[in-house]
Formats: sequence, C-alpha cells, structure tokens
Amino acid sequence: MDIVLAKSAGFCFGVKRAVNSVYDEIENHNTGIYTYGPIIHNEQVVQDMESKGVKVIDDLEGLKIITEGTVIIRSHGVEKSIYDLLENKKIRIVDATCPFVKKIHKIVFEESANGREVIIIGNDKHPEVEGIKGWVNGKAWVVNNSEDVEKITIKSDSKVCIVSQTTFNHNKFKYLVEIIEKKGYDINVVNTICNATHERQAEAKEISSKVEAMIVIGGRHSSNTQKLYDICKEECKNTFFIQTTDDLKEGSEFYSYMKSCEGNSLKSIGITAGASTPKNIIEEVVLNVRDEF
Ligand code: F3S
Repeated sequence: MDIVLAKSAGFCFGVKRAVNSVYDEIENHNTGIYTYGPIIHNEQVVQDMESKGVKVIDDLEGLKIITEGTVIIRSHGVEKSIYDLLENKKIRIVDATCPFVKKIHKIVFEESANGREVIIIGNDKHPEVEGIKGWVNGKAWVVNNSEDVEKITIKSDSKVCIVSQTTFNHNKFKYLVEIIEKKGYDINVVNTICNATHERQAEAKEISSKVEAMIVIGGRHSSNTQKLYDICKEECKNTFFIQTTDDLKEGSEFYSYMKSCEGNSLKSIGITAGASTPKNIIEEVVLNVRDEF
C-alpha cells in the first residue's frame, strides 16, 4: 500500500515562527510568559508549553489583570487596542503575528485613514478577522457569503478597500468580490489570501482525488483543518479527520474502515495535515498507518 504524504502538510511559516517564539522565551528562562489565546490549535503543543510554565490568557479581562511578564501575540494577530493596552501597562510584547497578517493590518489601517471603507472577506468570528477589524479606522464590514454582501449599506459612490482573511477560499473570494463590484464602488481589491493555505488545499485536493482513503490531521477547533477535510471529503468519500494516532486505534472510525477493507488490497492512502499540526505527529501517523495496517 502506498502512503502519499502531502509536502505541504503541517506547520506553515507563520505558525512555525509563532511556536518557535514561545520555545525561545522558555529557553531564555524568561518567567511570566503568557500567550494571548492558545498559540496554535493543537492541544498537545499547548499542553507541552503549559508544562514548561507558559500560561494561556483567554480573554481581554485576563490581559487587564496581569501586571508584569511577557505576552506573546500569536500568528493570527490582534487588534491595535491590545498593543495599546499592553504598552500602557509596560508589559513586554513578543509579536509573533504572521507577517502576512501584519500586512493586512497595515493595508486596512492606511486605507481607512485615507477615507476608504473596508470590507473584509472572511469569518467574522475568527480571531484573525477580529484582529484585522481592530486596525480599521471606523466600521469594518465582514462578509462571508452573498447574504452578507446584501447587508452592506455603504453608499455606491464610496471608495472601498477589500481584503481577505488569509485562510479564505480563493474561488469564494473571487465570487464575493464580483458581487461587491456590482454595487458600483471605486474598489481597491487586495487579495491577501496566504499561498500556504492555497497550496495546502490544492495539494490535498489533488492527492485525495487519486487515493482510496485520505487522512487529515489537525486540531478539532482548527478552521483550516476543517476546510482541508471538506475539500478532501468532496474528492474522496473515505476521508478521516484525526487529531493524533489515538484516532487510528481499535474502535476508531479509521480502524473500522481499514478492517472492512481487509482482503480488498487497498492500494493507496493519502495524508495531509492542517497548519497547526507538528511534524512529530505527522510522522507518527505515517509510521502507524504503515506498520499497523
Ligand atoms: Fe501566516 Fe499563511 Fe500561516 S498567513 S500563519 S503563513 S497560513
């Protein structure tokens, strides 16, 4: 049986950088290390960091009560007011915001300062979008579908800047831009979708269209892993979402599937992983699938 591992599986550049920045702080024996929100959507990594003394601050209230230490900002980035709050409190900031997200902050900050209305194509509830909104001077419009576009009440003779959440789907972005364009605005569209996501999704689609079963590894709360799963599932009905090798053991959906295939000589299994999945977990899954089935 062939195991086809996606080259783009696992940590993207921004996540790698954020995770390394936490381990650098630990290694430098700094005390009072906090991350604002879990640094990545991966329980194992977050637990490891916690065991080394890193604390996760989940909300603004938590930030307000700390009086010293270092706050690490994760790759999703945060709103401007968070920097202001920490700077006022003289709390050290380690900014691990992905440079691609930082670029969006800069665009919306400048464009809104120059009088353009800002439309963000993305998921309103996602922390990255929350952060981007916090760099807009005035109201930011967030659209995720055509109904959201209908709700925009910006006057038709306005100047508008459109950006995207980095992990948004390319085709959906294009489609929504086309609908917004019909409203007659003077539009500056900046496609801020990150290539890492696009490449991972394209590769996953290609592999899953050729294999008999597909494994997608990632955290349950990781939206990019969920998207990856959806893409693979469309191509390959035997697609499995797993977090660790525990999800390959007896009793799991994958295990039952593999047992049901026994005797049918399964030829190939594809494996990919979301942006928050560490290399060691991917390697363990590959070994496990190779050795156990
Ligand atoms: Fe950055 Fe792209 Fe990853 S925006 S955090 S490199 S998915």
